Amino acid sequence: MTFLSATLDRVKPSPTIAVTTKAAELKAAGRDVIGLGAGEPDFDTPQSIKDAAVVAIALGKTKYTAVDGIPELKSAIVDKFKRDNNLDYTTAQVTVGTGGKQVLYNALMATLNPGDEVIVPAPYWVSYPDMVLLAGGTPVTVSCGIESAFKMTPEQLEAAITPKTKWLIFNSPSNPTGAGYSHDELKGLTDVLMRHPHVWLMTDDMYEHLAYDGFQFCTPAEVEPGLYDRTLTVNGVSKAYSMTGWRIGYAAGPEALIKAMRKVQSQSTSNPCSISQWAAVEALNGPQDFLAPNNEMFVRRRNLVVEMLNAIEGMECPVPEGAFYVYPSLKGLIGKTSAGGALITDDEAFATALLEETGVAVVFGAAFGVSPNFRVSYATSDEALKEACTRIQTFCAGLT
Ligand SMILES: Cc1ncc(COP(=O)(O)O)c(C=O)c1O
Repeated sequence: MTFLSATLDRVKPSPTIAVTTKAAELKAAGRDVIGLGAGEPDFDTPQSIKDAAVVAIALGKTKYTAVDGIPELKSAIVDKFKRDNNLDYTTAQVTVGTGGKQVLYNALMATLNPGDEVIVPAPYWVSYPDMVLLAGGTPVTVSCGIESAFKMTPEQLEAAITPKTKWLIFNSPSNPTGAGYSHDELKGLTDVLMRHPHVWLMTDDMYEHLAYDGFQFCTPAEVEPGLYDRTLTVNGVSKAYSMTGWRIGYAAGPEALIKAMRKVQSQSTSNPCSISQWAAVEALNGPQDFLAPNNEMFVRRRNLVVEMLNAIEGMECPVPEGAFYVYPSLKGLIGKTSAGGALITDDEAFATALLEETGVAVVFGAAFGVSPNFRVSYATSDEALKEACTRIQTFCAGLT
């Protein structure tokens, strides 16, 4: 009998966290490393939000709270859904967890039985398939390559649905590609779901506010109100408010589902940090004026990276609608050999050689389910991005 749970054999540790850790180790060892692996903005949390946390501490808001969130935060979330998405929820339909990650995990734990299938369009955020596996379900990945701008078509969705399908996990703008579905593209998918009433929709709207060039974000229950009763709309403060370390995510959906998710949370972590919850109240209710200048900065960085990567022969880097990632294809470079003698057999070999030979850390595409690509996070300074892209250009120019 082995000591560790057999469940763990089904999952792997997060590759993005592994890349970030490896880059930090090399840096600590004195190497000149530029990390483009991190999934968080480099901006500081806005001062008003920090102040709200300090006030919460001073007022002694430092005790256990209701398991899935204080009423004040739930009200702020209800208001946010109405304001931004024209969705009507009551506080009883809202749950708050320790990051969007816990909320997604709770939902899967609360609903999946062995044999249940969950459709996950690829490229996907690394945690979706492994969370499904941990919860005892079966991920069904649908490959959406560069030719369809990394978006799933209605035909692909239709073909992936079986009688065992329980959920579709949807993410727009996407990690890792930054691709965002337009209203019409999303309507194409929701039309398919309307024909399959047994399939629920888990939409991860974490990058809602990070949308560029006039891209209009939309969320499924808004596009197709007929799906409201089987949609879990997930969001959080981590990305837009530069609050990754505060660990607050939330969701709204049918009350019975929210209650079941609360049960999971009540027997695992209980409430998310009380102080962070008060900070999140300020994030959602307070001024939103830092979003536009932050986005301007992100657009500039995105354009810089896209231009420098597209200048490389053999590489193709689409311009994404949102988030802070690009997901270039390196199809034209596979089979070549680096100046340091590494054979670029696939995207993992590329990322490994790039890190070892140039000190630039990116995440290989296989981690996200579509190859040969890699993910660059451009949530870092212009100088670091310029230097990193110059090193990538030099590395690629040295491939023979
Ligand atoms: C698409 C997506 N969903 C959810 C999360 C998790 O967010 P949080 O930090 O709030 O748990 C991330 C974080 O990287 C993400 O990229």
